[in-house]
Amino acid sequence: MTACADHYEHHLAPVYLWMAGGPQAALQAGRAEIEALALPLGPGSCVVDLGAGFGMHAIPMAQAGASVVAIDSSPLLLRTLDELRGAEPVRGVCDDLLAFPIHLTEAPDAILCMGDTITHLPDAGAVASLVQSAAAMLRRGGSFVVSLRDYSEPLLGDQRFIPVRGDDMRLLTCFLEYEATSVLVHDILHERTADGWTTRVSHYRKLRLATGELLALMESGGFEVRREAGVRGLVRLVAARR
Ligand SMILES: C[S@@+](CC[C@H](N)C(=O)[O-])C[C@H]1O[C@@H](n2cnc3c(N)ncnc32)[C@H](O)[C@@H]1O
Repeated sequence: MTACADHYEHHLAPVYLWMAGGPQAALQAGRAEIEALALPLGPGSCVVDLGAGFGMHAIPMAQAGASVVAIDSSPLLLRTLDELRGAEPVRGVCDDLLAFPIHLTEAPDAILCMGDTITHLPDAGAVASLVQSAAAMLRRGGSFVVSLRDYSEPLLGDQRFIPVRGDDMRLLTCFLEYEATSVLVHDILHERTADGWTTRVSHYRKLRLATGELLALMESGGFEVRREAGVRGLVRLVAARR
């Protein structure tokens, strides 16, 4: 298990749905984002969600008529996805997202990598390899959609403490520590128990991937790319395979 996968499985995954506002709000937010993208998701369409988590985007895409392959390295999040999807056609696959081509039986109409998942890749080579595989696997005219947070400009001092969510029982705060090509993300979780408050801290690395660099990589890899504002301060690159 990579350090990132370990962080998710043992620290973030158990609280991820709470962090996203609970199932109803999270799936509604995912549905709104999918509708804004206006992808061709009718019956017969096939899409892939890379780093799908509990299915925030995968489940709404299936509800819109697509058959969805949802890839994630967290068994716990995939179990949650399976509980939330009901009878919707979402096939959860536990694997590294870079291995997605081996799980496809047809050329997909769209490949999504949402919610800053791309920055979880280990290095620039892995990002280039993902763009290459997306271009190779998509049908002509198919969409590759990536949403990411641009960490290229470092936050300074107190700005590096980011409150994520809090209620009576739990508080999640993020602390960012910048390195040359990556950022160490420390997730600080306070939880109220019968014996009082507990604190657990765990960290993982994200890539400092500049949006402009990724856009250029996609263009040189055979995509026409549109840049737009995503949700929660993320940037969205919507690419069509030429
Ligand atoms: C920030 S979450 C985003 C989840 C979802 N896409 C969303 O928008 O809510 C990143 C997800 O990617 C998964 N992940 C991270 N690195 C991965 C990898 N190399 N292969 C597969 N899944 C990965 C994590 O387990 C987690 O579910």
